Amino acid sequence: MIILGIETSCDETAAAVVKRTQDGQGEILSNVVLSQIEDHAIFGGVVPEIAARAHVDALDGIIKQAMDEADLTFTDLDGVAATSGPGLIGGVLIGLMSAKAIAAAHKLPLLAINHLEGHALTARLTNHAPFPHLLLLVSGGHSQILLVKGVGDYERWGTTIDDALGEAFDKTAKLLGLPYPGGPQVELAAKKGDAKRFALPRSMKGREGYDFSFSGLKSAVRREAEKTAPLSDQDVADLCASFQAAICDILDDRISKALTTFKERFPDIETPQLVVAGGVAANKAIRATLDGVLAKRDAQMIAPPINLCTDNGAMIAWAGAERLALGMSDPLDSPAQPRWPL
Ligand code: KG4
Ligand code: ZN
Repeated sequence: MIILGIETSCDETAAAVVKRTQDGQGEILSNVVLSQIEDHAIFGGVVPEIAARAHVDALDGIIKQAMDEADLTFTDLDGVAATSGPGLIGGVLIGLMSAKAIAAAHKLPLLAINHLEGHALTARLTNHAPFPHLLLLVSGGHSQILLVKGVGDYERWGTTIDDALGEAFDKTAKLLGLPYPGGPQVELAAKKGDAKRFALPRSMKGREGYDFSFSGLKSAVRREAEKTAPLSDQDVADLCASFQAAICDILDDRISKALTTFKERFPDIETPQLVVAGGVAANKAIRATLDGVLAKRDAQMIAPPINLCTDNGAMIAWAGAERLALGMSDPLDSPAQPRWPL
């Protein structure tokens, strides 16, 4: 089964072709991602209208490139998948409409994919992650702990009550004068910093449930930055290191708790698996923390390669392939959905 996947929900214009064999193995035949970061950097964040216009300009060429690199034509496809939410509505509409046009013209099934499901199922493409498993989904717009029971079968255990984790990284970077997107910049600066210099709060640590809260942490960084100003490079590095250490502590607490529950619920699964997905999963300090937490509990972390953790078309094509393999597809009048919880 060969599926074209289109992703335009935020600031990446992406298209990919993915193949799924009958026994569920996946292969990426092409994966083209055009980042708009430079268009948005001067504004310190993604500007929806600029994003939508950039998708209009780029998408046809990106789809053509993905098809050319896979050495295929539209008639070779078995389906067309596109992100139909959640995300910035202008961008989502552009990708979804293009997918509908290709599907209609070539009489192919349309797969209207939830972007979060794309992130959630990536580890099945790269690592054959078995069901059920835990999923930590941490991106610019979402921070969730989910139980993944099957394709389209998710239980949300925890979510953020304020900022998403990537958003907290981006906002913290901005207030420290680091460029957008802030996540990688904070990680880089933190390498040279002293994580013990600033005592920052660990919101929600030890609390009931699996929810997150990151806005208090970001505000605490702001207060410390104001007290310390003017900030030297070393001050910024120490603030970044202290911030990242607080995040790692919070994730340690929440994931430990989720794992305990997972083990109680599935006592027969010898080695529980935690899949880490979303842009923030690219953070090596976070990956190392989670690795440690899981090793202590005889569990295993599955993290897709970094280029498949951030937004891409392959994850959308793969989610489409998984759904189509189960006989699912979507009508041509499927709506774009700016909000769409998994
Ligand atoms: O999944 P993604 O590419 O787009 C969304 O669906 O949001 O995630 C982007 C987010 C941004 O907030 C970015 O700052 C963050 O992921 N991010 C990181 C790192 N790389 C990307 N955060 C922390 N450390 C990183 N290395
Ligand atoms: Zn994403």
